[in-house]
Parts: sequence; structure tokens; C-alpha cells
Amino acid sequence: MSNYFIKNLEEYFQVYRRSVRDPETFWEEIAEEHFLWRKKWDKVLSWDFTKPEIRWFENAKLNITENCLDRHLPIRKNKTAIIFEPNNPKEGAQYITYKELHERVCKMANVLVDKGVQKGDRVCIYLPMIPELAVTVLACARIGAIHSVVFAGFSSTALATRINDCDCKMVITSDGSYRGKKQIDLKGIVDIALEECPGVETVLVVKRTGTNIKMKEGRDVLLQPLLDKADSYFEVVKMDAEDPLFILYTSGSTGKPKGMVHSCGGYMVYTAYTFKNIFQYRENDVYWCTADIGWITGHSYIVYGPLANGATTVMFEGVPTYPDFGRFWHIVEKHKVNQFYTAPTAIRALAKENYEYVERYDLSSLKVLGTVGEPINEDAWHWYNNVVGNDQSPIVDTWWQTETGGIMISPIPYVTPTIPTYATLPFIGVQPALMDEEGNEIKGNQVHGRLCIKFPWPGIARTIWGNHERYRDTYFAAYENKYFTGDGALRDEVGYYRITGRVDDVIIVSGHNLGTAPIEDAINEHHAVAESAIVGFPHDIKGNALYGFVILKEERESRDSNELRKEINQQITEQIGPIAKLDKIQFVPGLPKTRSGKIMRRILRKIASNDTDNMGDISTLLNPEVVQEIMDNAL
Ligand code: WT7
Repeated sequence: MSNYFIKNLEEYFQVYRRSVRDPETFWEEIAEEHFLWRKKWDKVLSWDFTKPEIRWFENAKLNITENCLDRHLPIRKNKTAIIFEPNNPKEGAQYITYKELHERVCKMANVLVDKGVQKGDRVCIYLPMIPELAVTVLACARIGAIHSVVFAGFSSTALATRINDCDCKMVITSDGSYRGKKQIDLKGIVDIALEECPGVETVLVVKRTGTNIKMKEGRDVLLQPLLDKADSYFEVVKMDAEDPLFILYTSGSTGKPKGMVHSCGGYMVYTAYTFKNIFQYRENDVYWCTADIGWITGHSYIVYGPLANGATTVMFEGVPTYPDFGRFWHIVEKHKVNQFYTAPTAIRALAKENYEYVERYDLSSLKVLGTVGEPINEDAWHWYNNVVGNDQSPIVDTWWQTETGGIMISPIPYVTPTIPTYATLPFIGVQPALMDEEGNEIKGNQVHGRLCIKFPWPGIARTIWGNHERYRDTYFAAYENKYFTGDGALRDEVGYYRITGRVDDVIIVSGHNLGTAPIEDAINEHHAVAESAIVGFPHDIKGNALYGFVILKEERESRDSNELRKEINQQITEQIGPIAKLDKIQFVPGLPKTRSGKIMRRILRKIASNDTDNMGDISTLLNPEVVQEIMDNAL
């Protein structure tokens, strides 16, 4: 019996138990039955969380694009692989079949190799949500180059940091991008970034907006003419299961962004298996995930997971509010979307608008609704369930992380009974543990603790690029022999999990994972700023918004505070991107600190959230007097 597709709760429990009792046999069967390997593994799993070292399907050979493209050709060559829905609905959708996608990926692979990209080289992709983004990702994978996609909303400084961290020798970008009514000058941003990136030899430029761009001689090349000349077949490069497939950056609570490294073999098996089950994908379904491929959600559940299953996956270039608040629902109706996967922040933003924007469209094709990125609040859950799903489509609240590669805790639709705000049960093969602050596992139900995972799953990131020690310290040092997620969670009386949010200094704003440190660094670079601390506070639409406490240098007297606030946000936009802008900025005479000089964010969080009834013990602070003053002037 194939255990690829879970059909009922009994089967879930049965397969789950088996996956935990004997993970190696379980994953071996999945890998064996459902994927194309050039050579099978010698050993399914070797692991040691103390080093940490994790290897799945050791010495196996494969190419993920052969699994996502070539093997579908005999049966699905005329099936649509990607539906491209452009920013402007008037432009009309594109339907790219598996055969066409295969050909486009091969051509791109030939171009990359012609330009000197070799197996193991890093290629930075800084593109909007246009088909070329998926094509270049797959072309890198086909030639064994490691792609590092940088979300095209990041600033030139953030882009440069990411290019340099993993020494990319090539950048692929476009002249510009469309976002609703706006047009963004991507190539201009790349040009500024590359002033700081001496290692980049080639920039390939896709034409999208047709805007005027500068082309640097000897470095910048237009892509289309190269593709026109390229051969339409490229034999895959055989990869080791443990070779890196890609690097994707995520913020940490401190320091520079972490380049999470994902593997070719385990990542493929895990994203494909989770996709199939968590979206209950059937052969003729149309699946749409609204994320950007610049985030892990897009890597795993727009590109790799769906294509490995031969699915039809929608790529949307635009924003949910353009041309109006009905855009998502218009697209669902137009393409008869069956599985729809989005973020709570988008749901909250659309739920504020008139029902009429939803009711105008026929959403009867929907079978599964997904959510990801942050805890979904009860109101948003009900609106999604009632208004969008008409009480007919189960909601899968999927908890996972850039580091986990794929979904970890989630209902299986039509299998797991759902409860609002609960991610419910661990996915097959996932072994969660809740820990107390002393490092003991909390057993039993109706408990709350820090969420860890105690056994490897195939999709786990293998390291942080160039910094394995940081990988160990961040994820494997807090609790012995466990992967620490950074999240808190509760387990209710039936064993369902509810994620309660980060327990570290990462703040999730509109589903984007933002570290406090890089934002504070950006603020502190403003010449008038002496020191700063940022915390999150609850926000209706974004989930959390950012509140900055800023100490100014002397010159404050002579400056207009609103002007300064604008400049500080401008500084953040330049260093990181507009997603990290502060909603509130309070100028303060000092920050509450412990005697060892650590900022007490707990106190600032309470002030920012207007929850100051019980401040706890502040007498041990170095400067308790500053707390009252900050409270009196809170925004
Ligand atoms: C953090 C990871 C992986 C997808 C996009 C985010 C939070 C994610 C949920 C959920 C509650 C969630 C966690 C996690 N998160 N999904 N369904 N319920 N919280 O990836 O940027 O790596 O962020 O997002 O706090 O640790 P990411």
C-alpha cells in the first residue's frame, strides 16, 4: 500500500506512528516510490544534533529538476505547469506547459553555463514574480549552481550584504518591476548594490517594464537575445543528495542575516510529500500560493513542491489590492483555483473591506484554504472560513520556518478536524517537544512551553552558509539534542498545538520575519541617533507593528521630531527595505537596562502594547527611573 496520500484520521495516526517508530524505513519508502534517483542511497539517515550533522539519503544521486520536469513529460507534457497572472489583469495570463517549462529551463541552463556558471557556484536572483524567476531557479538547480533568491523588495544594502555573504558571481535581475500602481527600478537598485560587490562578474537582465536602464559594459547583458540562441536541451548535472540546492536568508535576533542552506535530496522529498498531503492535491487541480518566491514559502510551495507533484501552480506578480480589493478572488474565479494558500496579514487586510469584493466572484472551486507565516487570530480565521470558504473548505493553518524547509505542524484537510488558531497535529515524521526554561521536556497535554523538534526530518536546513558554529548555537545549543524553533507553543487536551509566537527577539510583521538587531543598526546609523531599541506591538492588520525607542544625541533640541522620524524610517528603508519601517517612534532619554547593560525589551514591549498595569520587578534595573518617564510619554 502506498503511504503517499493520507485519506483519513485513522490512517494519519497509523502512518504517523510508523514514521516515528521507524523513520528511516518510512522515508525510504516515500523516497523510493515517488522520486527519480540516478543512484539510490547507501544509508537513509545519519545524524548527530550535537555537531550538528544531518545527512539524508547518503550518496544518492539525483537532480531535482528531473523530478520537477523531465519525468512528467511522458504523461503531462501539455499540462499547464505554471499559470502566470500579471500585475495588470488587462495584460492577460500566460499558461506554461510542462514541455515549455522544460524547454525554457534548459535554455536558461545553457545560458548560465555559457556565462561560466559551474556546479557549486552561487547565483543571486533578484527578480519580481515573473516566469523567469521560476525558470532561473530551476535552471540553477539543473546545472548544480546554488541559487540565492533575494526578495525584490529588499533595498540595495540588504541585497549587497546577501550577495557578498555567499560570494555570488552572477546576479539575475530585471529592468524594473510592477507592484500595483507602482513601478520599481530594480536594475537601479542592483547597480547601487554592486558598487559594494566586487565578486559579481555578470548581471543578466530580463526586460519587464521596458524602462531605461544603464548597462555596464563587460558586466551587464540582456537575457533574451542569449535565450533566443540557446539550445533547448540541457542534460541535468547529477547532484549528491546532500549537495546544497539553495541558500535563503532569514533574519536572526542578532547579527547579519543567516543564509540557510537546503539540500537537494531531503528537501525534495519533504516539500513534495508535504505538498501532496497538506493541500490534498489531485491531478487536475489548480493550486495557488500567494507568497513571493523570495521567501521560503514560494520556494517550497510555488516551485519545488507543486512541480515535483506535476501540479499546476499559479504565480501572481501583483498585490492583493490592485486594481481593487477583489483581485485575489477575481483570480480564484478566473483560474478556478482549488487550493489557495496565503498569509494572515493578507486575510486581515481584505477582511476590513466590503464583503462585496468577495461576493462578486464565484469561489466554488475552492477545496482547501491555507495560511502561513504567523499566528492567525480568531476573527481572521472565521472570516476566511465563512466569507471565502463558505464553510466548505477546511483551513490548514501551517506552521513552519525557513529553516524547516517544509510544513511541520498542520491539519491535513478533510482528515484532521480543525479548530480556529490551532495548527493542530505534527505532520508525518515530525516529532515536536515542548520544553521548560530549565531545559526539561514537558510531557502530557494542556501544557505550554518552547517548541523544539527532537528528531531530524528530511527538509531541515543543513547549515548556515559559512558559519556552521552559528547554526549550532542558534538552533541546537538551547536544548540538548533538540532543534529549537524560537517559538512558544501550547498543547491542548487532545494534543493539538497552538503556536503562541516568538520567544526571542524576532518580530513577525505582516508575516515577515524581522530581527531587531539589523533594524536597530540601521536606526543607529542616523547621525542624530545615539541608541535605539525596537519591539513589536499588536496591530490589526500586520499582526505586529514596530515601535522604536530612540535616544538622540545633543542636536535633538534644534530638530523637528516628525522630520527626524521620517529620516529614521528612510534610513531603515535604505538599509533593509520598506517592510521594516517603524509605525511609532518615541524619543526617550534612556533605555531600561539590566546591570550587565542588556536592554530589557520585556518592559519596552509592555509599554508599546499599552499593557503597563503589571510591569513586574523593575528595581533590579540599572536605571529604574527611566521607565516612568518612557511610560508618561508613550505614543
Ligand atoms: C516563523 C518563521 C515558513 C513560512 C513563512 C515564515 C512564524 C510561521 C506560522 C503559523 C504561527 C507561524 C513562527 C515561525 N509562523 N507559520 N502557521 N502559526 N506562527 O517563515 O520567515 O522563517 O518565519 O513564522 O514564528 O518561527 P519564516
